[in-house]
Amino acid sequence: MKIIKLPLLPQITVLLISAAFVDSALAAKGWGVTGEEIARFDAKVVDILCELSGDCPENCGGGKRQLGLIDSEGKLILVGKNKSPFSGAAVELLPFCGKQVTADGLFTENRGVRLFALQFVREGSDGKWRGATRFVNDWAERNGFAADSAEAKQWFRNDPNVIRIIERDGLLGLGKEADKEFLAGMGMAASAQTASAPNGQALFGQRLCSTCHGPEGKAPIQSTYPKLAGQNKEYLVQQITDIQSGARNNGLTAVMKPIVQKVTAEEIEAISEYLSSVPR
Ligand code: HEC
Repeated sequence: MKIIKLPLLPQITVLLISAAFVDSALAAKGWGVTGEEIARFDAKVVDILCELSGDCPENCGGGKRQLGLIDSEGKLILVGKNKSPFSGAAVELLPFCGKQVTADGLFTENRGVRLFALQFVREGSDGKWRGATRFVNDWAERNGFAADSAEAKQWFRNDPNVIRIIERDGLLGLGKEADKEFLAGMGMAASAQTASAPNGQALFGQRLCSTCHGPEGKAPIQSTYPKLAGQNKEYLVQQITDIQSGARNNGLTAVMKPIVQKVTAEEIEAISEYLSSVPR
């Protein structure tokens, strides 16, 4: 009898090890950000605004409110992004409104604000674990995409509301013109025009001139910085070249000098041509 029992031991060990693997496969994963802390704890799902203000609509606001957790010490925990990029966890927590759950995820800290990113959740302490991936599935269904489609993975680029808002306010929320200038400054919107002949107007943004001298060289960011619009072209070429070479050097020149180091003579010509054509 003893001979039969012995070979069972390794099998039990294997079972224990695989059980450990199953569990760790379900556990939250880190993102590699500073101050992160993987955590699993018991908590109650609450409507944050209701907790703070006493204004408590039915069913935790039906998905229109931010939901949070109250841990066993009675601490209110803000639940932010879940497993899917840029999505909050309201959709994931809503089915558990007012209930006790086990939450598994990652605490992160951003400028003193501690947020919990929910990755898995189960009802009570022995319910079935569920990945906090409902948001994307929901989104895909609402918008007519397969849940595992490329569109759903990048839902934030394909969401009709997001697209409408960017269309209206631009990527920076400052309007589409500001986007153009910003992207040009980052060297991200190389237009066909700039590839052939240098385009003074585009270069004025791309070379970051407008960040100090303002759009069209009309509204400098400091009252001591010069306006450039409508200035004589030859004068502009001379001044920029002199600032670049160091021939012009007074207190404020140092601010601009590093910026013009890599601007070519051809580009200086084009920018000056453009600036001289802008009405004051
Ligand atoms: C970081 C801020 C900054 C940036 C960026 C910048 N400038 Fe300037 N620019 C200045 C300041 C400050 C002065 C005044 C310098 C002085 O008093 O000598 C100046 C002066 C000038 C002048 C001389 C104006 C005059 O009336 O004499 C020209 C022309 C000029 N900048 C063009 C440009 C162009 C073209 C670019 C982009 C390639 C550029 N600047 C980028 C800050 C900046």
